[in-house]
Amino acid sequence: MYSIVSLIIFFELVQSQRHIPSCHAATIDALSPGQELAGGDKLVSSNGKFALGFFQTDGNKSSNNNNTPKWYLGIWFNTVPKFTPVWVANGDNPVADLASCKLVVSGDGSLAVLVAGAAKNSTVWSSKANITTNSTIAVLLDNGNLVLRSSNSNASSSIFWQSFDHPTDTVLQGGKIGWNNATGLNRRLVSRKNTIDQAPGMYSFELFGHNGPTSIVSTFNSSNPYWSSGDWNGRYFSNIPETVGQTWLSLNFTISEQERYIEYAIADPTVLSRTILDVSGQLKALVWFEGSRDWQTIFTAPKSQCDVYAFCGPFTVCNDITFPSCTCMKGFSIRSPEDWELDDRTGGCVRNTPLFCNGSKSVDGTADKFYPMTSVQLPDKAQNFGTATSADECEVACLSSCSCTAYSYGEGGCSVWHDKLLNVRQQDFGMAKFIGRDFSQVVTTMRGTIGYLAPEWISGTAITSKVDVYSYGMYSNAQAARSYCREQGGEILVYTSLESSYRFLDVR
Ligand SMILES: *[C@@H]1O[C@H](CO)[C@@H](O)[C@H](O)[C@H]1NC(C)=O
Ligand SMILES: *[C@@H]1O[C@H](CO)[C@@H](O)[C@H](O)[C@H]1NC(C)=O
Ligand SMILES: *[C@@H]1O[C@H](CO)[C@@H](O)[C@H](O)[C@H]1NC(C)=O
Ligand SMILES: *[C@@H]1O[C@H](CO)[C@@H](O)[C@H](O)[C@H]1NC(C)=O
Ligand SMILES: *[C@@H]1O[C@H](CO)[C@@H](O)[C@H](O)[C@H]1NC(C)=O
Ligand SMILES: *[C@@H]1O[C@H](CO)[C@@H](O)[C@H](O)[C@H]1NC(C)=O
Ligand SMILES: *[C@@H]1O[C@H](CO)[C@@H](O)[C@H](O)[C@H]1NC(C)=O
Ligand SMILES: *[C@@H]1O[C@H](CO)[C@@H](O)[C@H](O)[C@H]1NC(C)=O
Ligand SMILES: *[C@@H]1O[C@H](CO)[C@@H](O)[C@H](O)[C@H]1NC(C)=O
Repeated sequence: MYSIVSLIIFFELVQSQRHIPSCHAATIDALSPGQELAGGDKLVSSNGKFALGFFQTDGNKSSNNNNTPKWYLGIWFNTVPKFTPVWVANGDNPVADLASCKLVVSGDGSLAVLVAGAAKNSTVWSSKANITTNSTIAVLLDNGNLVLRSSNSNASSSIFWQSFDHPTDTVLQGGKIGWNNATGLNRRLVSRKNTIDQAPGMYSFELFGHNGPTSIVSTFNSSNPYWSSGDWNGRYFSNIPETVGQTWLSLNFTISEQERYIEYAIADPTVLSRTILDVSGQLKALVWFEGSRDWQTIFTAPKSQCDVYAFCGPFTVCNDITFPSCTCMKGFSIRSPEDWELDDRTGGCVRNTPLFCNGSKSVDGTADKFYPMTSVQLPDKAQNFGTATSADECEVACLSSCSCTAYSYGEGGCSVWHDKLLNVRQQDFGMAKFIGRDFSQVVTTMRGTIGYLAPEWISGTAITSKVDVYSYGMYSNAQAARSYCREQGGEILVYTSLESSYRFLDVR
């Protein structure tokens, strides 16, 4: 008790000291035509919770860009001691020189970030709204939404543009994810490239299903879905039943002629919160916890980091239990240690030695070999090689193609993989002990969403209701396995007994 009380007192002391300057200097929450927000200035919402201005993420750590500073126009939590952006205007077009940039309400009424040049001002970013009035004003609202509206009216119909309609990786309370047919807007979250680079990354989170059933889906590189909420069943999204009956944190889905969207709400209005699509591809709902003076994650989707498509990049093994969770396969090294350090693992690992790519041995006796792995989920994008009827034939089939990187032989026959191996996942439960040596593959998938997911994602194994029955049968037979039967979040584990190997050049 004592330590908590003193912590709070300390925190308030720090806070009041931070606020002394702003008590004297009038803070403004709006930008009118003719005014400009220069490099060091900021707008502060009238409740003091949010600020808009130019910010820089740690330039020293940035990879491949020679430590050029990167300035972004964005919104952040103004009262939180840990710098936390919630929206970025020019994520893929940062400014190098803070002194030369400014935010203005431009001649056409739009918001624009300009960089003063010797000959002309260049536009780095613009809100590009269709303005139907002769005078607009930009206001940073108390909920963190930056709105551009007519200066003659407060009506919501006179809002021409708002940051909540163009979210980056964050949705705040009051913001929506979903679309509006009248405006053609689709509000979706896109992860950032890494922990300092605010450029859009590979992961997105959005609502799917315009006419039929609606679900929320996370996708890698626009084409590889890896998490789905399941369809809306009238009360909740079928794979996240835990969202029902929550009063403290609620997830609402609104469906009307024109709009379909989700929004979250935290009942206590004093709690600071945000929901982000993290650099790691996981959706995270976080609340600010003054006790620890940090953000605490209260909800994640998918639940396991290794469920995120390509989280560790090619030629890696993802492990949800150990730390670090991404390791290179034997014979491979991290492609970009700088990106890796910034939590961007999508580059994965590269071969230490190129494949020999020839069925026969070289003069010095080296040859391509396969390294067997046990207790792993097979990578996606498997190709079935039907004519091979033994593990040896399967191996030969793979060796005969230079682009073939792995094979697996088991009940499903011979499967081979070409080029990058993605989503290899270690299951570290010591399962081999109680299932036997044959037990080596675990396929994780989501119940109810199989029809939606690309078949490759489920490793070419036809997952049917039969397989469900089979997997449950195995749980009941193998006493020890039952404790690993995870059902929360609609996940099921399917056990089969395939062998898998990947190909590498073993140089001694
Ligand atoms: C960044 O680098 C500069 C010069 O090397 C140094 O003065 C500064 O303290 C560094 N900043 C951080 C946050 O490490
Ligand atoms: C750049 O814009 C400012 C107004 O924001 C204006 O005063 C200045 O003349 C412009 N410079 C050039 C070169 O157009
Ligand atoms: C602005 O209006 C024009 C014509 O009505 C339309 O073609 C354009 O897409 C609109 N732009 C935006 C950003 O809404
Ligand atoms: C804008 O339009 C209103 C009427 O719609 C008019 O009264 C006002 O003078 C105009 N302002 C400017 C700056 O043109
Ligand atoms: C808009 O709202 C603000 C604060 O609520 C008020 O001061 C202002 O007069 C309103 N403007 C108009 C045009 O109604
Ligand atoms: C993303 O998709 C594009 C086009 O489909 C492809 O060219 C690119 O290699 C993909 N990137 C990754 C990292 O998978
Ligand atoms: C909304 O737009 C989508 C695609 O743009 C379309 O399929 C759907 O029918 C529209 N819904 C309504 C209610 O107009
Ligand atoms: C969500 O729905 C509940 C119950 O209908 C309601 O009390 C709450 O205000 C809604 N939250 C939002 C953000 O609309
Ligand atoms: C593969 O080995 C055969 C026999 O040694 C040789 O003739 C051929 O040139 C080799 N091919 C490559 C690509 O090294």
